[in-house]
Amino acid sequence: MINMRKAAIIGCGFVGATTAFSLMHQGLFTELVLIDTDQKKAEGEAMDLSHGRPYVDTARIYAGTYDDITDCSLIIITAGANQKPNETRLDLVHKNVAILKSIIPEITKRGCEGLLLIVSNPVDILTYAAFRLSGFPSSRVFGSGTVLDSARFRYLLSEHLKVDTESIHAFIIGEHGDSELAVWSGTNVAGIPIHDFCEFRGHYHHTEAMEAIYHRVKNSAYDIIDRKGATYYGIAMAVSHITESIIRNKNSILPISSLLTGQYGIRDLYLSIPTIVNRGGAQQPLEIPLSGQEHLALTKSAKTLKEVIASLDL
Ligand code: NAD
Ligand code: LAC
Repeated sequence: MINMRKAAIIGCGFVGATTAFSLMHQGLFTELVLIDTDQKKAEGEAMDLSHGRPYVDTARIYAGTYDDITDCSLIIITAGANQKPNETRLDLVHKNVAILKSIIPEITKRGCEGLLLIVSNPVDILTYAAFRLSGFPSSRVFGSGTVLDSARFRYLLSEHLKVDTESIHAFIIGEHGDSELAVWSGTNVAGIPIHDFCEFRGHYHHTEAMEAIYHRVKNSAYDIIDRKGATYYGIAMAVSHITESIIRNKNSILPISSLLTGQYGIRDLYLSIPTIVNRGGAQQPLEIPLSGQEHLALTKSAKTLKEVIASLDL
């Protein structure tokens, strides 16, 4: 039996602990289980977070074991190495696939029926690995994908254009990583195509502005890691946003990492395209219109990921 108000976070480092903090504030869960190979770290985080309980709606938060997570509606995986300066996400693949291989059997052997939300990097590859290793249907296994990158994109556009992020409709798709792309052809502000809106706001150098904004989005993690060693607040809020769509059964359209089954001619691969998300997980990856150049960039992004997957023993 699944308890919709119970979730687990596996990996209680920067990302796991911050995600727990963010989820507590949302009040969606009555029980949050924290698991880490460093049991003391999980206990310390649970103790610290629990001291905020008088101020939020979340009920119990505790350091548990895999036996505690069998009835969780959502299992969030944030375990694994993060990037050091000058490392790419793909550089983490062997270390983090090995970690995932130790985690997934603990979940499957207990017959968990909840959803798996993968956050550890390289997220698209690890989500594919979790899908293959778990044997769960693809709707139940998905990654945070480019939800964070799309938030970065909308934030930078909102600063450039001086309008609320809520009015900006824009997606980053493909790999959550160096081969991702911006869907400029579909980007609009309140239904007005991006270039027209830029001109309303006095910006005419579209090519330069597009390149600068795309590079800032793509390099955000590198820029933050150079300054403070890791990224965690943005991703924690992105994970909470995905979680809310699931638990509130919102049918939101989010660029999570989902299994492509022929969209854009790509199959048997996880990457991000806008996908309908609800209580059942990743329901339908949508083949949104792309320009020829964007389609080419997505195909290249898929090829990069396929090459890495081919080097793995899954
Ligand atoms: P961290 O080093 O602070 O924490 C990792 C935690 O995982 C540690 O507490 C470690 O003990 C734990 N761990 C390792 N092996 C484990 C296992 N087998 N079972 C349970 N726990 C285990 O790292 P972090 O900064 O929290 O980053 C975690 C991951 O999230 C990294 O892979 C990072 O690249 C990724 N990340 C992804 C995004 C995204 O947008 N998808 C954003 C930020 C970070
Ligand atoms: C991010 C992580 C590192 O912040 O993937 O984009």
